[in-house]
Amino acid sequence: MDVVVSACLLGESCRYDGASRPSAAVRHLANATTMHPVCPEVRGGLPTPRTASERQGDRVVMRDGTDVTSAFERGARLCAEEARAHGVTLAVLKAKSPSCGVGLIYDGTYSGRLVKGNGVFAELLEREGDVCMVSEEVVESSRPSVEHPVALVLGTGLGHLSSLVHPVRHVDYHDIDGFPEDARPMEGHLFEATIGTVDDVPVVVYPGRIHLYQGFSAVEVTSLVRHAYRLGCRVIIFACATGAIPGNAHTGLGILTDQINLTGVNPLVGDASTRGLQTPFVDMREAYSPYLRTLARGVADDLGIAVEEGVYAGVIGPSFETPAEVRMLAGMGVSYVGMSTVCEVIAAQALGMNVLGLTLAANYAGDGQVSHETVLEEAGRHADSFERLVRGILRLL
Ligand code: HPA
Repeated sequence: MDVVVSACLLGESCRYDGASRPSAAVRHLANATTMHPVCPEVRGGLPTPRTASERQGDRVVMRDGTDVTSAFERGARLCAEEARAHGVTLAVLKAKSPSCGVGLIYDGTYSGRLVKGNGVFAELLEREGDVCMVSEEVVESSRPSVEHPVALVLGTGLGHLSSLVHPVRHVDYHDIDGFPEDARPMEGHLFEATIGTVDDVPVVVYPGRIHLYQGFSAVEVTSLVRHAYRLGCRVIIFACATGAIPGNAHTGLGILTDQINLTGVNPLVGDASTRGLQTPFVDMREAYSPYLRTLARGVADDLGIAVEEGVYAGVIGPSFETPAEVRMLAGMGVSYVGMSTVCEVIAAQALGMNVLGLTLAANYAGDGQVSHETVLEEAGRHADSFERLVRGILRLL
């Protein structure tokens, strides 16, 4: 996977003050991907270090008359060409930099004043589309450690991943705050989380979940998410079995890009403060982390694993969809329909966790062919690809 990165984050002394801003998390990502370090300011011919600048209208100009804004533009064009030539899908850009920053940047005059908007290079990349842009803060917040393990919540047929874990400790689900006492796993399954490592990455694996259709509440089905958060997890990967919506997706593996909650319930209803939330009014614009989705896409492409992408619709079940419902979902732009995940994603988002959603579309929705056994069979067929995909993603984090 090809990634473009602000060179200062890898330790190049190319900032205006001659300093660098190395980030251990970005360096780790660089070691696991094909990184292309760029500095639009140096590429634009600006000296490092350089003297103070001042704003003149919409330009930033150095005391000796050098037009800093023009230099940024020149350098940004060259860097964007390089990114395009390498088929880059991810850009890790120095936060607040007037050339590289995304969303909020210094105004270029060394005053420390921040203005809304993108840096010149980020603006160019955004206009061209197709490149996910994140600051080093996003990479850092997704980096696992013993204090911040990655949580994996595995759905029907996908629980075998827990056998990969080098266990340190097990937690019976019934010892988890808010998990219902009377919940019992399907035969042959264990309601037991495993804390440990997969390929040296600290993880907490939940090999099964409970569902609204079993009669549990939205708050109960999200108890595992809050547990993961309390254990320190800041990245949570949900894997679920779904039905593919004909015309919008095929059976097989998928990356969830967004969701529609059709369950009629929401885990944030009620007294949210007792669940550790500042506010129940949660921004859901990036419920599924664009950064993690981009990593998952890159891993799938690099490993040659067929993975589609699409919107997930969560229904309460347990009855399957009628033909009219399948037509409705198709018209709504849905690719996958399932009976889990949406409430858990809302709960995770409310806690500020970075979410990745993976699915195994085991059948076509409404095809009348689906049963617990057929879902297990289809999951078994994709078990190897699913395992390689998840391990590949963990390796990048
Ligand atoms: N519909 C809803 N949930 C599902 C399906 C389906 O067709 N297949 C697996 N989970």
